[in-house]
Amino acid sequence: MKKIKRSQQFEVVVTLHDKNFICPPKESQRNAVVNRALKEFVGDLNILNEQTKRFVPGATSHEFKIDRAQKVMEVEEIMEDWQIPLMQEMAKTIANNGGDILEIGFGRGISAEMIIEHDIDTYTGIECNDAIIETFFKPFKQKHSNKNIKIIHGLWQDTIDGLDLFDGILFHTYPLNDDEYMQYVNGSITFAEHFFNHAAKHLKTGGSFTYFSNEIDSLSREHQQLLLKHFSSFSIKLIPLKIPDDVQDTWWADSIVLIKAIK
Ligand SMILES: C[S@@+](CC[C@H](N)C(=O)[O-])C[C@H]1O[C@@H](n2cnc3c(N)ncnc32)[C@H](O)[C@@H]1O
Repeated sequence: MKKIKRSQQFEVVVTLHDKNFICPPKESQRNAVVNRALKEFVGDLNILNEQTKRFVPGATSHEFKIDRAQKVMEVEEIMEDWQIPLMQEMAKTIANNGGDILEIGFGRGISAEMIIEHDIDTYTGIECNDAIIETFFKPFKQKHSNKNIKIIHGLWQDTIDGLDLFDGILFHTYPLNDDEYMQYVNGSITFAEHFFNHAAKHLKTGGSFTYFSNEIDSLSREHQQLLLKHFSSFSIKLIPLKIPDDVQDTWWADSIVLIKAIK
């Protein structure tokens, strides 16, 4: 089977070589589903054409030759300020019903400050970087000594199994090295994908998990299917961004999608 979609700007050709690939009972059904897949792809290309006109150039380097697990960083290297409105929204998403909250990646502690403004019972962070613990977590803990706050010092991969269940989980780390970049950024539909099963395992029933996606204004079919493997439902919120022209991070678009997945 061969299908072609043409416009003035592009041509998309899909050739199915194997007659057993997409093989429903009727040929008309095969036609219908392949046509729909092609139509979706063409729709995506047209939307990307519009969205990329508004991209900023950015100053991104995708190489993490120096392992970042223990790197001592400037604040904007840990997290750039354009992400602060996202932190506000993520904190609200998981903490406005209170309970026990887990945050993966303490960073500058900006989202942590926003989480504990809500009426929660406990805050637990997991953070691997010694300098982040000294510079950002210790003063945070001291400032809020009346609150039930703790940090688990280590990689979440090595420590999360020892933790119990939570009402809300916020995931905001970054790739620590080239291997993680290749696997979790290049090789996944969304960076948080490698954490999905851990989030589902450590949430109470009805609890919420939040992260932001490296898609621009919606979730792809593959992303939605992955979410529904681990969670009972999800919702998304489009967050408009003021993105600087020389953004260092791997993001160039003027919006981003926040996901709230419910166990
Ligand atoms: C982008 S920052 C988090 C910013 C934070 N949301 C804020 O508002 O300041 C990411 C943090 O995740 C930590 N991190 C990255 N990978 C980790 C891992 N595998 N385990 C634990 N912490 C990790 C980094 O050291 C860094 O402090």
